[in-house]
Amino acid sequence: MGEVAGRGVPESFRFPPDFLWGAATAAHQVEGDNRASDWWAAETAGLLPHRSGRACDHLRRFEADFDLARAFGHNAHRLSLEWSRLEPEPGVRDEAAFAHYARVLEALRGRGLEPVVTLHHFTAPRWFAERGGWLAADALDRFAAHVDAVVERLGHGIRWWITVNEPTVLAKHGWVSGDWPPFRRGRWDLAFRVIRRLCAAHRLAYRRIHARVPGARVAFAHSIPWIEPCDPTRALDRLAARLRTAFLVDWPFALVREAGRPLLDYVAVNYYTRSVVRWRPGGRALLFGADCHEDHHGPRRFDDLGQELWPTGLLEVLRRVARLGLPILVTENGIATEDDALRLAHLRGHLEALAQALTEGVDLRGYLHWSLMDNFEWAKGTTARFGLAATDFATLERRPRPAMRLLAEVARTGRLVPSAREATTA
Ligand code: FCB
Repeated sequence: MGEVAGRGVPESFRFPPDFLWGAATAAHQVEGDNRASDWWAAETAGLLPHRSGRACDHLRRFEADFDLARAFGHNAHRLSLEWSRLEPEPGVRDEAAFAHYARVLEALRGRGLEPVVTLHHFTAPRWFAERGGWLAADALDRFAAHVDAVVERLGHGIRWWITVNEPTVLAKHGWVSGDWPPFRRGRWDLAFRVIRRLCAAHRLAYRRIHARVPGARVAFAHSIPWIEPCDPTRALDRLAARLRTAFLVDWPFALVREAGRPLLDYVAVNYYTRSVVRWRPGGRALLFGADCHEDHHGPRRFDDLGQELWPTGLLEVLRRVARLGLPILVTENGIATEDDALRLAHLRGHLEALAQALTEGVDLRGYLHWSLMDNFEWAKGTTARFGLAATDFATLERRPRPAMRLLAEVARTGRLVPSAREATTA
């Protein structure tokens, strides 16, 4: 499992007192009734296998959810402001939606939860998608106007910003595997353009936020797997791993560079798994292609989505991005499982990786777990369970899982509590 991650962490280790601890969410996945969005349109047209419906009804239950987060030791919370609610028709700002998000941000602050605000987390207004989405000629202008409206009306005092979420993941699902809107398959050309566009969207949002919000820290959330060759003795496997890393990890950073430096105030790392690559002829398929799931240095463990549980990969990723010389925030990390023991092992292993990185001097500022509660996991619907709390989708009750208690203990004490330490070094 990669428990070696934490071996070098001394007993006396403490997480910094101002470390951010919390969970990450996205509007469409938790709020419910996201009717003006492209996803809702696709769901109701039967183009997706599941409907988000009322999701977790977070739209109405946000205060109770934030109470829960606070009760479990969180001091930060990542959320997205749904563009399609704020601008349901082109150029029409919905005052009630702005007022709603003002209340949401107030509710966070009132509970001592530092908001980490995402401007675009996969969904877009239906009208935006119908006009060509991110590939439309005026897409960036439309997004810029939206960013201005949000920054002006809601931005005051927000310190942590995420402009766009995971450009490579959105491009892959929307234009290569084609299982998400706009359901294009094998359109690598368009996928590359979308990644470029989303990185351009980041750059413009970066400037617009800084023009109005003093002290803002702005990044895009980057999905960064740890990529390894399947057989490290094979030169072609090593080449495959290098190419995938260059494309999936390094290219988006390069696309946000301006005047020789990345236009980022910190690195927002979404880490889930390692990707073990075998060389296959067929060119571009290599970049997003399937992983090699054979035994690779011993038995491996996978979650319900087939993602490998590999905490050492988080440490490797943190070491790698630390070279950019920027602070780092883990803005997503989690596991799709209903197995509490596996979820605990996952969390312990990744906490050890964080501790090890801090011990090595990595400028890590916080950890936001995906997710606060089970939610609407895109094309998987409610079948993939990522929550610190389980959601009963019939009653909408939230039930904290053991991992939520472990995270609370670590957040409160700042220590890798004995239970966390034992399980990871056994
Ligand atoms: C990430 C997404 C997030 C969630 C997790 C499981 O790629 O950003 O919305 O779906 O995966």
